[in-house]
Amino acid sequence: MNKNVSIPGPRSLALAERLRAVECRNTTFLSPEFPIFWERAHGSQVWDVDGNCFLDFTSGFGVAALGYTPEFSVEVLGDQAGKLSHAMGDVHPTELKVRLCEKLSELTFEAWGAGKGKAILSNSGAEAVEAALKTAWMTTGKSRVIAFENSYHGLTCGALTVTGRKDFRTPFQSALADITTFLRFPQEAQELKALEQRIRQHLSAGRIGAMLVEPILGRGGEVIPPDGFLKLLRRCCDEFGVLLIFDEIYLGWYRTGKRFACDHEGVIPDLICLGKAMTGLFPMGACVGKGEVMDRWPESKGEALHTSTFLGNPLGCRVALAQLEALERDHHGLQIDRKSQILQEELERLASTRSGWIHPRTRGLLGAINLVDSQGRPDGARAAQVMVQSLHSGLILLASGAEGNVLSFTPPLIIEERELRQGFEILNSL
Ligand SMILES: Cc1ncc(COP(=O)(O)O)c(C=O)c1O
Repeated sequence: MNKNVSIPGPRSLALAERLRAVECRNTTFLSPEFPIFWERAHGSQVWDVDGNCFLDFTSGFGVAALGYTPEFSVEVLGDQAGKLSHAMGDVHPTELKVRLCEKLSELTFEAWGAGKGKAILSNSGAEAVEAALKTAWMTTGKSRVIAFENSYHGLTCGALTVTGRKDFRTPFQSALADITTFLRFPQEAQELKALEQRIRQHLSAGRIGAMLVEPILGRGGEVIPPDGFLKLLRRCCDEFGVLLIFDEIYLGWYRTGKRFACDHEGVIPDLICLGKAMTGLFPMGACVGKGEVMDRWPESKGEALHTSTFLGNPLGCRVALAQLEALERDHHGLQIDRKSQILQEELERLASTRSGWIHPRTRGLLGAINLVDSQGRPDGARAAQVMVQSLHSGLILLASGAEGNVLSFTPPLIIEERELRQGFEILNSL
């Protein structure tokens, strides 16, 4: 794509130096080969400050499901900014907040035939997880949670407590509440029986109020569990009166081909955490719960027990409403299944032509392939090298997994077949 130019270009390199001087060291990864600084983006393409163009196979962490700067979002954002861009979320809110909560109810619990859902809006995914945890504590009176090894639920303190990726937790371990029992996320059907036994053992001790799970492990390496996993969790939660929380922040809104990943198994959670593609560009999340669960929160007496300054921000609500309308209207036309098939074929081709590229897998437009060394051990260094080489050839990719050895593929849902193939041409040429 960007023939004979050096990437990062001189402007990106200069910005990296300036950033190094003023941003916390542990935030943006800075090296002579990384990052590029983005200037603009459209559809599935991103341009950096040096004028180089890249194809984005990440949707910017799964956010830009309908691509970057979709016209409808630009229009409604501009219009809303001219009218009202901030209100008093839990004191004097807007009609937009009402409409978004109604829409979220309609697309979750009402669509599942489980009555009205009630929402707590947030400014990020991690905060949606925090709201779900607080709901569980408030409604069950039990503080312990079952979560899964290598899961990722965000990095605020509460969310970190239940995040299974040890690399994120370890430096802060002594300060985190010890409330989580982490279980192995299953990969094979034969693991389910033993897992169910373990879950029952833990639940029968009576201290667990909630079970939190990503229906497909996302940043933990795109692990697709065997069929029956979510049903198993639902069964156990029902038996022991424990809340089942699905974190669909990464998976929700058609990433996996259906509106929610849990729709593949037809399992309904008690609470669902949403974010990312819900707005497609604005920092916002939501925890939506069954009406009867959420109604165990006491009525606000004037000082909300859970809120924030920007709660239900009108720009976010407006753009979320527009995004959800577009997703609901257009998802069939996006041909996610067809593109998923291409993604799977291309990943299989890579697996068959390269040694150490194994286990290609796809669910909708979520795909992944693991890189291992000659001894079969996770090869994070190789994945990092592929990421850098791809970037230098015009393709933005991310690696995932606790060992960083999984190449993950989450292109915008609107990506064209031609672009998808073009990205793989780049990968095949490395
Ligand atoms: C499954 C999942 N949960 C929670 C989060 C945290 O969301 P945020 O980064 O918006 O706080 C993420 C972010 O990648 C995620 O993938």
